[in-house]
Amino acid sequence: MRVINFNPGPAGLPLPALERARDELLDFEGSGMSIMEHSHRGKVYEAVHHEALERLSRMLKLPDTHTVFFTTGGASMQFGLIPTNFLTPGRSADYVLTGGWSEKALDEAKLVGQTRVAATTRTPEGRYTRVPTQAEVSFDPDAAYAHTTSNNTLFGTQFHTFLDTGGVPHVCDMSSDFMWRPLDVSKFDLIYAGAQKNLGPSGVVVIVARKAFLAKGRTDVPKIFRYLTQADNDSMYNTPPTLAIYLVRNVLAWLDGEGGLDAIERRNRAKAEVLYGCLDQLSGFYAAPVERASRSVMNVVFRLKTEALDEAFVADAKKAGMVGLKGHRLTGGIRVSMYNAVSLRDVETLVDFMVAFAKQHG
Ligand SMILES: Cc1ncc(COP(=O)(O)O)c(C=O)c1O
Repeated sequence: MRVINFNPGPAGLPLPALERARDELLDFEGSGMSIMEHSHRGKVYEAVHHEALERLSRMLKLPDTHTVFFTTGGASMQFGLIPTNFLTPGRSADYVLTGGWSEKALDEAKLVGQTRVAATTRTPEGRYTRVPTQAEVSFDPDAAYAHTTSNNTLFGTQFHTFLDTGGVPHVCDMSSDFMWRPLDVSKFDLIYAGAQKNLGPSGVVVIVARKAFLAKGRTDVPKIFRYLTQADNDSMYNTPPTLAIYLVRNVLAWLDGEGGLDAIERRNRAKAEVLYGCLDQLSGFYAAPVERASRSVMNVVFRLKTEALDEAFVADAKKAGMVGLKGHRLTGGIRVSMYNAVSLRDVETLVDFMVAFAKQHG
């Protein structure tokens, strides 16, 4: 029996995408072998690869100025590759700090070159309960790029309106909220997203980039570290993670079939309304630290009165068939990650449980 999975990533995948993988595992489309046994240079795999890229391009309404491709190494590798490609000598890069992942991205860039913090919402206790407003951020007009994190997986905050970088190339880590709603990619110079939340399994990263920005990347670093290499070689400069990309294809086909980004946004907003509605109603029992305007639609964090109650909540939820609710080790408490594959029904089941738990322990 499958559980209701609120894992933060790797996260639950849509059941139809997994069932399709099961059905196709041993004999992919009559080829007598699984997709992962095919050559990445063969027609069978290439069709899957291009279908995934085509679905991404279409659902994102990718403009001609931009390109989409796959790479590897997780989002963390991009923390290092972005400055390696774009933080050229004599330049500085701006970082907006909104959580643990943006801190990590900055730490890597510091090892490559000059950096500057354009804004931070870190509290003296080292937590984050909101993202900055535009007025709180000052971008260096000469910066090589400005790095932001659209959704802060650990602290449950999210930019609902993107910062205007004032002409500085905007690089954004969208790992935990990529494709949760329609997105105007033309505002960004480089978007990166590890697949393991909204798109598929770990092992593959989606990059959406402005072609002119990629062209400015350094050419004196090894080819394999250059974004342009994968962009110019159809994400196949070297052997791509074929199984992961195949699963991304299945998830994208599912998303398309559900009505694409408009439909998934409606569902995601309905889920958030139900869960935050419950937290607001039971605010004497569940404490939600994130400021209202910064509340994440993807990761919802809250805590109970004691750590013992947090633990009882997680244990009882597990008995009721719901997993993945323990907060990050840095933040404690509870975290509910409800990416695209989590249904409204799943969230309603959790809310029913929360109401009953509060009644029992309140
Ligand atoms: C916003 C964000 N950035 C980066 C990462 C790191 O991803 P990876 O483990 O794929 O390197 C995560 C992982 O949860 C994340 O949520």
